[in-house]
Formats: sequence, C-alpha cells, structure tokens
Amino acid sequence: MHDSIISNSSSYYLSLEEKYGAHNYHPLPVVLKKGLGVYVWDIDNKKYFDFLSGYSAVNQGHCHPKIIESLISQASILTLTSRAFHNNLLGEYEKYITEYFGYDKVLPMNTGVEGGETAIKLARRWGYAVKGIEKNKAKILFAEGNFWGRTMAAISSSTDPSSYKDFGPFMPGFEIVPYNDLLALEKAFQDNTIAGFMFEPIQGEAGVVVPDEGYISGIRNLCTKYNVLMIADEIQTGLARTGRMLACDHEDVKPDILILGKALSGGTLPISAVLANDEIMLTIKPGEHGSTYGGNPLACKVAMTALQVLKEEKMAENAEKMGQILRTELLKLNSPFISCIRGRGLLNAIVIEHENKEAAWDLCLVLKENGLLAKPTHGDKIRFAPPLLINEKEIREAVAIIGKSLQSLNK
Ligand SMILES: Cc1ncc(COP(=O)(O)O)c(C=O)c1O
Repeated sequence: MHDSIISNSSSYYLSLEEKYGAHNYHPLPVVLKKGLGVYVWDIDNKKYFDFLSGYSAVNQGHCHPKIIESLISQASILTLTSRAFHNNLLGEYEKYITEYFGYDKVLPMNTGVEGGETAIKLARRWGYAVKGIEKNKAKILFAEGNFWGRTMAAISSSTDPSSYKDFGPFMPGFEIVPYNDLLALEKAFQDNTIAGFMFEPIQGEAGVVVPDEGYISGIRNLCTKYNVLMIADEIQTGLARTGRMLACDHEDVKPDILILGKALSGGTLPISAVLANDEIMLTIKPGEHGSTYGGNPLACKVAMTALQVLKEEKMAENAEKMGQILRTELLKLNSPFISCIRGRGLLNAIVIEHENKEAAWDLCLVLKENGLLAKPTHGDKIRFAPPLLINEKEIREAVAIIGKSLQSLNK
C-alpha cells in the first residue's frame, strides 16, 4: 500500500481489498458505511439511493428497526445450538413459515445456494423413493440462463462461461432447456428419469428476464402431467419483490418445492429455507442432510420478524404500485440509449444500447456521482431494484437522477 494514501479515504479501503482480498468481484468504487431504509451513505457521508438492495436481500430496507431489534435481542440470549439439540425458536419458526406459505414442512439452511443444493437433493431422493427412478439415474432440468449461486452443483447447471469455465469436471445428471419455452420443456419431460425442473419465475442475474404470461402455470401443468417436481427458485423473486409475496403468485401457482433466501433475513445474516410437503420432505431421514448454522435460534427469530414486516407494511402492494410508476417514468425519459425497460414490481432492468461496450458500467459510475447506486449485469443491463418501502416521491427523484445521468452518454 502506498504511504501517500490517506487512511480513511476511499482509495485506502479500495487498496486494502485489492491487496488482501481475493479478486473475485468487480465492485463500483464506492465505500459504504451506513444504511437506513432506501438510502446508504459512503465514508464521506454522501447519501445514495440503493437501487440494488444487496441483490434483493434488503427488501425491507436497510437496518429495519424491527428486524434489528429481533437480531440484537436474540443475539444476547442464544445464537447457536446446532441441530444436535433442540432450541425454543426452531419449532415456532417452522410453524410460522410453513403456515405463511402453505406447506407441510420446511428445511432451514443459510445461503441461497445451499437452498438450491437442498432442493436438488430432495428431488433426487424423491425421484428414487417415490417416483421409482432407477438408482443413480435421476436427472434435474434447469433453464438456460439460470443463476443460483457458485457451488460446484450450481455452476454445473450454468450456461454462463464466466461461472463454469475452467472449474470442471462437473456434476452429472443435469440438463438444460431453453427458458420460457413450454414446448421444449414438454419434449424434455418425455424422459421419465427426470425428477425435477428448477427455475426462476423471473431470471434475476440473467438481467431480469420476464417470461411470457402463462409460462409459470404452464410449468405447473406439465410437472403435474409428467410427475416431475416443480422447483421454484424464489430466492431473488420472492418475498414481495415482484409485487406479490412470491412471483409464482402472479399465476396462482404453487410449486412442489419452494426455495427462499436473501430477504428472509432482511439483509442481516444468511438465512435460506426450502419448503415442501411431506411426500417430498420426509424422504430425507435424520443424518442425511443439514448444516451447523441451519435453523439456529438467531436466524429463526430474525426470519419470523423479516416475514412479519413484509406483510405488516404491505410491501408487496407497494412494490407493485411503485414498480409501475418506475417503469412508466423511465419510459417517459425517452432515452435513445435505453433499448428495453422490463420487470415486475420492483425487480426491473434497463438494457443499454450504445456503441461503447462499457456504456452500462460508465452510466453506473455517473449514477453514483449523482447519488444512485446500481450495478450492471451481463455488460449491457442495469438492474433497478430498490428496497420495497420506497415511496412515489423517491421514485420520481431517482428517475430524475437516471435521466440526468443518461445524458452523459451523449458525450
Ligand atoms: C435466483 C437466485 N438463486 C440463488 C442465489 C444464490 O444465493 P446466495 O448468494 O445467497 O448463495 C441467487 C443469488 O444471487 C439468486 O439470485
């Protein structure tokens, strides 16, 4: 590190990460130190709209007072017992979340990707124990463009070279079908060794790819017809983000396996959950799956509050309303550099069209200067996904910042 770098300056923090941290991310050059509601502040006390919300982990807003109260109060009582012993919050949480979403059982994990791994293990086990698939022959189908994390299984199902390249060999028994294509799905389902189809109701990391109306209910019908488990990865789309509690609710569909994460803790600690009915969940027996931290009392307490806040503060309804205003106002900007505005609720993206391939990144740098934080995905797409408590005045202020920033692309 250079002596000339003033300690506590942005460059000081950037240089520490550069020198001592693995180079597995490429963040915007902003160093945050505080967050509240829809805002975050950098180390120079500059205030920004947070239009990423920790990849939709902070749906309830930064440092939501009720969630923080649960976190702090429980942290001073009991944080971890492991599942070697019972604790007084796990059962209460299991009752709360299964009633909330209408499933028989829940299996608690930590990160989203562990939720995905759990769902796949459940589907394979169900495939052998219930569907009667021949030993070690079960297949799981995934949609092209999927993203569900960075473990070996997750990248084995990825179609994005930046996820899987040079990390092989990969997990067998995974197959890919095009997204938003029910004909291709039905064709693939002719193979009766398929145990499950895992998909995102809107593909988040792929750039907020919204499928045609009828896709989700079409998946439901085909899964029922061919006895394949419908596995909805609602880690990014769930928990009020798209204007309904679950994105599958837009088509009144109930998946066989539901995976939740991210906002299940309101951005305070990694909490994920897999929900299913007994026929599926009880195929896994004691000692066959788990995690040291999964179902810890701190997580149970925080998750109950995080879920309660979503309903109490009508966040799905607000996301639906504010999302419509956001898309309408973005359209009114009439920018020649926006080739597409898409999304549902407050999970939105714009696609930037510009001769400069770095235009989306450059725009995010200007947005930052003008007080709004967003991040490009796949080069030309920028996700706009603020915390769900944003109000109309704030949406209009944010769109004014976006409009002003887009003008910089003229130069
Ligand atoms: C749809 C989806 N599934 C799974 C994950 C993985 O979650 P985590 O990063 O908590 O492992 C993500 C993360 O972005 C995601 O967007």
